[in-house]
Amino acid sequence: MAFVISLFQEPEPSLAKDNLTVLYRPFHNSDPPKLHQLWHQCALGPNAAEGFSCDVFELFACSQPYWDPRGMIVAQDEVSGRIAGFVHAGFAPNADQSGLDHSKGTICGLMVHPDFRRRKVGSELVRRAEDYLRSKGAKSVVAGGGPEQNAFYTGIYGGLDPSGFCMKSATWPQFFQSFGYNEPKEILILRRDLVRSKDPVNAKLLRHRRHLNLVITDRPTNESWWWFVRYGHLDSLRFELHEKGTENIVASGQIIGMDLYIPKWGVRSVGIREIYVPESQRRHGYAQALLLEICRRLKGESVEVVEAHVLPDDKVILDLCNLAKFEVTDRLITFHRLL
Ligand SMILES: CC(C)(COP(=O)(O)OP(=O)(O)OC[C@H]1O[C@@H](n2cnc3c(N)ncnc32)[C@H](O)[C@@H]1OP(=O)(O)O)[C@@H](O)C(=O)NCCC(=O)NCCS
Repeated sequence: MAFVISLFQEPEPSLAKDNLTVLYRPFHNSDPPKLHQLWHQCALGPNAAEGFSCDVFELFACSQPYWDPRGMIVAQDEVSGRIAGFVHAGFAPNADQSGLDHSKGTICGLMVHPDFRRRKVGSELVRRAEDYLRSKGAKSVVAGGGPEQNAFYTGIYGGLDPSGFCMKSATWPQFFQSFGYNEPKEILILRRDLVRSKDPVNAKLLRHRRHLNLVITDRPTNESWWWFVRYGHLDSLRFELHEKGTENIVASGQIIGMDLYIPKWGVRSVGIREIYVPESQRRHGYAQALLLEICRRLKGESVEVVEAHVLPDDKVILDLCNLAKFEVTDRLITFHRLL
């Protein structure tokens, strides 16, 4: 994969508080192997994939059509030449997900090697990411990206979606609040262990199994540009429950393969998103029937864990996941700031 070597901006050395001299510079073509190594040295927590190749890192971090080497700022120790950390800034999509909204900046990735922590490298990277975002027209920034808003790392960070930073990997609140970001917002990760949990049984579910057909397709239907740039490299399937006879669709949903997490988690896992029941068909238990049917099929394909991301105030989806035996296992967080 070829990238433009960035000469746009003079690198600036900066003296950290303990006389560490760090060069902050845009991405160079030769960086991916070092950034890939840094990723594996930073203990990014349970929601970061590990054990993948450098090609995979490049695919998920640097191959998007809006990739800008100036948005990936690398901190390099001037004396040893070691990479101390990097930050990756990007933009959220516009309302119809057909392009980027440059007024909405995001900090999509941030990591500092353990040897360089508590020496203000992280703070300086965030400051420079904000400068980059401001220079491109951003009015606000969400550190962590936000649900379905993160432009990079779908497939290798966060599980189903890199919708925020993993709570367990860093003291994010202390870090971001130390330079003026507001209260964190949480995204819940719910998982169902398909091996240990048992399907609920009731008369309504049995009736649905008799009257509904499950239709599975691998053709993305009406997906947006934003969907293709984020999920296009991953396996995906669409599931629909059709009423026998009329063929009306009473519920639909999508699954995204998470095979890049196998080396880390040791099991096959799949993310479920976009569960939808048409307004006229609601409160009949179709969403639950669909979720359980998807789980049953995935179990037959040796998938052991199914994951969904839900906002804490989305009571309807939380109740639905609860009925389908999902449990909250983790949390991702984001922080917001006006620029
Ligand atoms: C979060 C992280 C980037 C911080 O980098 P850093 O260079 O150590 O941060 P700084 O030195 O700039 O810290 C600035 C302030 O944040 C707060 N802070 C940072 N780390 C802290 C910690 N471990 N405990 C408490 N406060 C902390 C402090 O207020 C600190 O100021 P102080 O040292 O004067 O007290 C780093 O810990 C890291 O890389 N963690 C893993 C990142 C990760 O999981 N990334 C995945 C997303 S892609």
